[in-house]
Amino acid sequence: MIVSMAVLLVCLAAFLLAAASVHAAGQDGFLSIDCGLDAALSGREDTVTTITYVSDGPYVDGGENHKIADDHVSSVGSDASRRTLRSFRSGLRNCYTLPTESGAKYLVRMVFFHGKYDGTSTPMSVKFDLHLGTDHWDTVTIQSTVDHFYSEAVFVAWASWVPVCLVNTGTGTPFVSTVELRPMGASLYLDVNTHQSMSSYASINLGANTLTRFPDDPYDRYWSWLKPSSSWANLSTQNAITQQDQDSFAVPSRVLQTTITAAGNDTLLNVVIQRGYSPSLMFRVFLHFTDFQKSQLRQFDVYINGRRLDNYSPMYLTASSVQNSGWSKADDGNFNITLAATNISVLPPVISALQIYKLIPNVVSRTFSKDFDAMMAIKHEYGVKKNWMGDPCFPPNYAWSGVKCSNSTGNTTRIISLDLSKSNLNGLISDNFALLTELHFLNLSGNSLSGPIPDSLCKRNAGSLDFRDESGEDMCNKTMSASPSGNRKTIVVISVVVPVVALAILVFSYLIWRGKRKPKTSIHDPRKESDLLSAPGSIKSHGNHLQNTENRQFTYKELEKFTNKFERFLGKGGFGLVYYGRLEDDSEVAVKMRSKSSSHGLDEFLAEVNSLTKVHHRNLVSLVGYCWEKDHLALVYEYMSRGNLWNHLTGNNGDETLDWATRVRVVLEAAQGLDYLHKGCSFPIIHRDVKTGNILLGQNLRAKLADFGLCKTYISEIQTHISTNAAGTPGYFDPEYFHTGRLTESSDVYSFGVVLLEVATGEPPMLPSHGHIVQRVKQKIATGNISLVADERLSGAYEVTSMWKVIDTAMACTADTSDRRPTMATVVAQLKDSLALEEAREDSGVRVSPASDSTAALISTFGPSAR
Ligand SMILES: *[C@@H]1O[C@H](CO)[C@@H](O)[C@H](O)[C@H]1NC(C)=O
Ligand SMILES: *[C@@H]1O[C@H](CO)[C@@H](O)[C@H](O)[C@H]1NC(C)=O
Ligand SMILES: *[C@@H]1O[C@H](CO)[C@@H](O)[C@H](O)[C@H]1NC(C)=O
Ligand SMILES: *[C@@H]1O[C@H](CO)[C@@H](O)[C@H](O)[C@H]1NC(C)=O
Ligand SMILES: *[C@@H]1O[C@H](CO)[C@@H](O)[C@H](O)[C@H]1NC(C)=O
Ligand SMILES: *[C@@H]1O[C@H](CO)[C@@H](O)[C@H](O)[C@H]1NC(C)=O
Ligand SMILES: *[C@@H]1O[C@H](CO)[C@@H](O)[C@H](O)[C@H]1NC(C)=O
Ligand SMILES: *[C@@H]1O[C@H](CO)[C@@H](O)[C@H](O)[C@H]1NC(C)=O
Repeated sequence: MIVSMAVLLVCLAAFLLAAASVHAAGQDGFLSIDCGLDAALSGREDTVTTITYVSDGPYVDGGENHKIADDHVSSVGSDASRRTLRSFRSGLRNCYTLPTESGAKYLVRMVFFHGKYDGTSTPMSVKFDLHLGTDHWDTVTIQSTVDHFYSEAVFVAWASWVPVCLVNTGTGTPFVSTVELRPMGASLYLDVNTHQSMSSYASINLGANTLTRFPDDPYDRYWSWLKPSSSWANLSTQNAITQQDQDSFAVPSRVLQTTITAAGNDTLLNVVIQRGYSPSLMFRVFLHFTDFQKSQLRQFDVYINGRRLDNYSPMYLTASSVQNSGWSKADDGNFNITLAATNISVLPPVISALQIYKLIPNVVSRTFSKDFDAMMAIKHEYGVKKNWMGDPCFPPNYAWSGVKCSNSTGNTTRIISLDLSKSNLNGLISDNFALLTELHFLNLSGNSLSGPIPDSLCKRNAGSLDFRDESGEDMCNKTMSASPSGNRKTIVVISVVVPVVALAILVFSYLIWRGKRKPKTSIHDPRKESDLLSAPGSIKSHGNHLQNTENRQFTYKELEKFTNKFERFLGKGGFGLVYYGRLEDDSEVAVKMRSKSSSHGLDEFLAEVNSLTKVHHRNLVSLVGYCWEKDHLALVYEYMSRGNLWNHLTGNNGDETLDWATRVRVVLEAAQGLDYLHKGCSFPIIHRDVKTGNILLGQNLRAKLADFGLCKTYISEIQTHISTNAAGTPGYFDPEYFHTGRLTESSDVYSFGVVLLEVATGEPPMLPSHGHIVQRVKQKIATGNISLVADERLSGAYEVTSMWKVIDTAMACTADTSDRRPTMATVVAQLKDSLALEEAREDSGVRVSPASDSTAALISTFGPSAR
């Protein structure tokens, strides 16, 4: 019943990416980081651009947050993202690591506004380098505290993450105000590929006097302007400008609607860009034109630094471009663009916009993308606190500590050895280690890891992996010999270092801390510890026939006895490992032990005890009792003998897959449980970890929602959401939360929508390199062919309208913005309709698979829910 976490974790990048896709109109896929922004303000919407900005915590490890000086605030105008920044006093290189979709094209931009954040006295000058992955991208030169500087690059992602780094070159402390990532269409900027990126040198909207960006440019490129010259005259139009098919620049209409032309009777138009750059760089120049009249001939020759390109006539209200042929050098980094009317031209030359890009060749090697992604998954899973930034192997002097790489060159360098000893790792031994393609040595000693050794890890490198415990014994060999059947139930404790006393102190100080933190107002705190200590035993059942009237308090000795010394390992829950048990009256239970080494789990333990003692519903897993001894915290639940819904969909673990009617019934029951959490109590409870793995099935395939370890409640009218750290499971997590930092019932609705999609398609939320289930289903829906969407395992045995109803409901639940999502009550109603449709089909005799014995029992459960 162990659901492999590996796939989910390696998809973390995809998850962050999906999470990063916003939600306000047109911002799909935007990631906008306001560096230095207080985490509590994360998700604020910019008043001018409506872009949603998040704080930078999840994307960067080093540096300090600063605010610009008060007397500089007026210099940033309405752009609030420049009021805070992150500076990097220590470390030669500091990186933001941004989630990308491998193979997709992006624009990344960094904005710098010093604003006297460090109280420096003017004049000042700061100069540092930017790297895109392992390659030099740009040099930032700030000459004064009121300078605005930005740099943009266009690149194709080579892995599920892209590091963008600030490099201290000994000429001032690097800092950054904003980091923005924008997806670009694949057909844009065809010069860019995995081995060749480019950085914007000039991107100019001629005839404008303000910056043009989103929403005028859907890709949110910055289009700046030039100081007007006396030899230019303005032309403009209100008419829309047509883009040609196969236009690889997508210059916004707004930019093309203003042009400059030669003033007076002049026939020559000159635009000069001077930025003084290293002469060895290679450039591409793109000039953009349109004409606002069609009655008279306008024709001109185009010269770039004296080199003539063919003569040219702009098209009427249609965008077109002229470019230099391939990458070429500009001797001093200056560009002199001259447009000269030909002798047959009636009208003078015009130009709307120009873009100059410099080449960023991929010259420094990169770690093999799968190894990079695996390392990022490991880093995130354990919250590794090391200087792990940028590419794991390159440049060699910045390679991640503990990592050794193969000598191969190019993009094929693999991680061959990983020493994570004494790194304060907690929890289970991750499947993610097995994702390192060529790992031959792994040292995990000196950590507090426990649990089974993933099969995949030992199998992967069949014998060639050197993975030993403290005594030097081969860990893989140990697993095999301890359980000849090769199953995963063996628990190998690598090192448990938290002594009994330490844990007792921890619990005690936690309680004191909670006491101190209690608000002084009279608001009732549903999680206060007095409830926790007194609740078990005193809480009465509320009409749940399965619920004992009292929660029993177990001793650790009893648990040992009932589980036969924790003989049968069932899986991993929210805060610890779960074992099978049988009480003296032969009733079956699941015992969830809080893992001893983790201080993290205590909060979750308390949340779960609290939620479970407060809510009772036949579709929520019920608590039989608990154990709270000095160093043993455990929860005892009713045992759900048929495992979780996930296994029944995939046929994992030998569980049979379910027919459509049963699937709909199961999710309907789970929906009722979730609806009850949201609305059935005096205060809403947010589950936070709704997923198929947490929908458990009992003997009659009756479904119950489980694992309340992440539950949160909010209680007052004023507090209509919870600001907290992201948790939950990748693939199920409400993307809006990531931007707004707000957690509401609709975050659970989103996750439930993902569950519905899984049930309909039989696919997991994340499929490496196929993206998130919402996107995958969206694409298939577009074909209008339901059989492409529906799970093949159903062999077409479903009522088409019933299937559509579930998918439509799922799509509504997974809407980008929470205000467009239904409530769970609506979802329950929709699923009841869907079930009725499917049952009508079955009654009419088209049924393919025979009714299971449990069907009758299940139908009877759809009475009004117990409230
Ligand atoms: C052209 O337009 C720009 C921006 O609106 C303005 O700054 C400039 O003065 C105009 N030039 C002329 C010659 O009118
Ligand atoms: C432009 O040429 C016309 C005739 O060719 C002339 O009348 C006019 O004065 C000229 N304008 C300027 C600004 O030179
Ligand atoms: C730009 O080129 C034109 C024509 O080739 C020339 O007349 C002009 O002086 C040049 N300007 C600069 C700043 O080099
Ligand atoms: C126009 O210029 C072309 C070459 O640029 C030349 O061959 C032609 O004679 C010129 N025509 C007139 C009318 O000046
Ligand atoms: C890598 O190169 C170093 C020195 O060049 C050499 O000592 C080492 O054996 C090489 N390792 C592999 C795996 O080829
Ligand atoms: C590695 O680089 C070669 C050329 O340098 C390229 O053909 C190949 O596609 C690259 N592989 C990956 C996975 O990027
Ligand atoms: C693993 O790391 C520990 C602690 O750093 C060290 O004592 C031990 O020798 C290492 N094991 C191997 C096999 O290198
Ligand atoms: C693995 O275990 C077997 C016996 O259980 C032993 O013969 C063998 O030498 C061990 N191999 C290693 C690499 O420790």
